[in-house]
Amino acid sequence: MLYLPALAAAALIATQTASAAPIADVCRVDDPHELDFRTFGVEGCLEENQGVYTLERSQSNVCYTFVDPIGSLTVADNLCTLTVYDDDACAEAPIVVPTDICQNGTWASYKMTC
Ligand SMILES: *[C@@H]1O[C@H](CO)[C@@H](O)[C@H](O)[C@H]1NC(C)=O
Repeated sequence: MLYLPALAAAALIATQTASAAPIADVCRVDDPHELDFRTFGVEGCLEENQGVYTLERSQSNVCYTFVDPIGSLTVADNLCTLTVYDDDACAEAPIVVPTDICQNGTWASYKMTC
């Protein structure tokens, strides 16, 4: 995949949310947007842009795996905190990701905490 539009990433995450909570309402005013981050397939946060992950409040404290293997990421907006992990289960080697600073790493899972 060369380019994942932001809308596709948002739709993907919305689908995950819908499976977790049966009430699928696209315009949930009670579920505010809390955090955005962009991932890349290689180090440096420039090449192999994989698109934006958009997280809402209902997705906090849930462990997710990245859609594609990542090499770096940048948090663009963080009302909440993003933590990334080496394993698929949000257990090993947690790293709290700062905002607007490229982080190189091949993490496998992530979790937002608010
Ligand atoms: C991330 O990787 C890029 C490309 O290898 C490098 O230029 C940059 O300094 C690295 N950033 C950090 C914080 O290590």
